Amino acid sequence: MFKVLVIHGPNLNLLGKREPEIYGKTTLEEINSMLRELASELGVYIELIQSNHEGEIVTKIQEAIGKFDGILINPAAYTHTSIAIRDAIISTSIPTVEVHISNIYRREEFRRRSFISDVAVGVVSGFGKESYLLGLRGLVNYLKEKQSA
Ligand code: DQA
Repeated sequence: MFKVLVIHGPNLNLLGKREPEIYGKTTLEEINSMLRELASELGVYIELIQSNHEGEIVTKIQEAIGKFDGILINPAAYTHTSIAIRDAIISTSIPTVEVHISNIYRREEFRRRSFISDVAVGVVSGFGKESYLLGLRGLVNYLKEKQSA
């Protein structure tokens, strides 16, 4: 059974209350329930964490070595700033999918740069909470194809 670590970055604990016109009204707990449901449908094990701290996210990615087959991450604002998270992803070589609730390419200029995208297997951005579900499907499909290659 594939094991997937889901990482929610800073301020995503405020989903539901935070800028609902951009991020919707769904809470993080509701998104996590949807992810748990999809994971059981796909037959994969998932663990979900949220952190507002860059270093903690780096540590979680490092600790995933040998424990997880894939990482689904919404790095939130760290997407646009964190070379440390990028380096952690490269260092672990764990296939990683980047997700964003909003379409980061149709917002402020500074959100168009991602330090994560070119080290990710794929990116899903702009589909609201559905981005997470599409991302999990994409990641599991990638892992299956890699296994049978
Ligand atoms: C986000 C987009 C980021 O630019 C922003 O800083 C976030 C959330 C998204 O899911 O749309 O916190 O990652």
